[in-house]
Amino acid sequence: MRKLHVFDTTLRDGEQSLGITLNVKEKLEIGHQLVKLGVDIIEAGFPASSPGDMESVRTLAKEVKGVIICGLTRAVAPDIDLCAEALRNAEYPRIHTGIGVSPVHMEKKLKLSPDQVVEQAVAAVKYAKKYVSDVEFYAEDAFRSDPSFLVRVIENVITAGATVVNLPDTVGYANPWEYGELISYVINNVKNIDRAIVSVHCHNDLGMATANSLAGIKAGASQVEGTINGIGERAGNTSLEEVIMSIYTRRDGYGVESKINTREISATSRLVSRITGVTVPDHKAIVGANAFNHASGIHQDGVLKDRETYEIIQPETIGVPQNIISLTARSGRHALQHCLEELGYTIEGAQLDDVYQRFLQLADQKKEVFDQDLYVLMGDSGGMESSIVLQSMSIATNGVEMATATVILEIEGILITDAACGNGPVNALFNTIDRITGNTAILEDYTLKSVTRSSEALGEATVKLRYEDGRLVVGKGFSTDIIEASAKAYINALDKRGLRNEQEV
Ligand code: KIV
Ligand code: ZN
Repeated sequence: MRKLHVFDTTLRDGEQSLGITLNVKEKLEIGHQLVKLGVDIIEAGFPASSPGDMESVRTLAKEVKGVIICGLTRAVAPDIDLCAEALRNAEYPRIHTGIGVSPVHMEKKLKLSPDQVVEQAVAAVKYAKKYVSDVEFYAEDAFRSDPSFLVRVIENVITAGATVVNLPDTVGYANPWEYGELISYVINNVKNIDRAIVSVHCHNDLGMATANSLAGIKAGASQVEGTINGIGERAGNTSLEEVIMSIYTRRDGYGVESKINTREISATSRLVSRITGVTVPDHKAIVGANAFNHASGIHQDGVLKDRETYEIIQPETIGVPQNIISLTARSGRHALQHCLEELGYTIEGAQLDDVYQRFLQLADQKKEVFDQDLYVLMGDSGGMESSIVLQSMSIATNGVEMATATVILEIEGILITDAACGNGPVNALFNTIDRITGNTAILEDYTLKSVTRSSEALGEATVKLRYEDGRLVVGKGFSTDIIEASAKAYINALDKRGLRNEQEV
């Protein structure tokens, strides 16, 4: 079987497009999880785009091993110099350089003739080759290019040393059969194509990114690019988990195999959602909360008789365990440890004690603690150390239009108390936290959702703060009390910003 190389660009095409600022620590956490998932290539960022991206690529190159670390560049020497510098400590460095090849990109954006584009593409690949042997070339907007011109560009960049050629559907315009035909056309007409891996990179503007990527793989592409949960520019990128599970479930149809550990899919999806603040819709294929829920009576009856009636993927395959133990306030450490292991967490000793204490507090407030609650507990303990801690809060409302919040925060060991008014409890709370911390960032988005079912469910609050420099920082907080969850989310966003300042170059 042909090997399918899985190229993850969550940290580049995914992050860059959303206006979300992930700090280096968060990117590292995602990078390590991607290694567990078994991707072949991590595109860690676009070093020339910002000092923060430069630092992220540099850090991942240094810390994340056993995988190719890739950086994006335009087809210009200064970008390539920065990228090579960022990748200096990578075990397996790759430079991903390229240029627009469609008429609209060449004429309107680049103002270059086709000959000039070929010349610049070749020069960039040769320049990148001076630094690394693994050079991927992207022909931006390849799908809307003239196929014979595309063949000419690709043949020339392979001669110049490109080891991978990426043919993106940059604007998500293709139909699956057309994209497959383009890939076949390139494979059949580029004379030296046997010297490079053909890569597919699709956007989801018409909801066809996964279908198009699969059509490209079927036509002979051996690398697929995408993001976890499909996050990315506009309507997003190809969802890697969808491609991986299509190939796994329908292996008869594609003739390729990847080295992905499908059991890490669910954990990776949850991590990316938690860190980016981009919620996965309940009905999302593979990783949505309802992906394995059978709601109608007929379906429930069917799966009880035989799972295969309505289930094409077993939840365990993507790391969603079928728990037989119910966790309550009476459960011991061992039961908790077992359930956490089922979810992919190995903890013992002091860490288990810490999680167990917090589990008991939660179990006292809820009749039963579900998997989703455990994910939250682990997210809380696995996160960064907080420099701001919520010590206590109280809210008084007159029930009509005013509320007053009193908050005590511990900031670097010092207790600070203050109070402020607002047009509702959450507004009063955030105003008070602003007074204490001196925060001036604007609250751009605030959402609340229930993590589990039942009236004692854990609430998850997400806060997005926009800073003066345009950066957006996401904070999350969890509690059975939604006002407390909101306070924690707000503080988490403030905390992250502090961390980022320290780490930026
Ligand atoms: O969509 C696209 O064309 C890209 C390239 C920069 C690889 O993301
Ligand atoms: Zn893209």
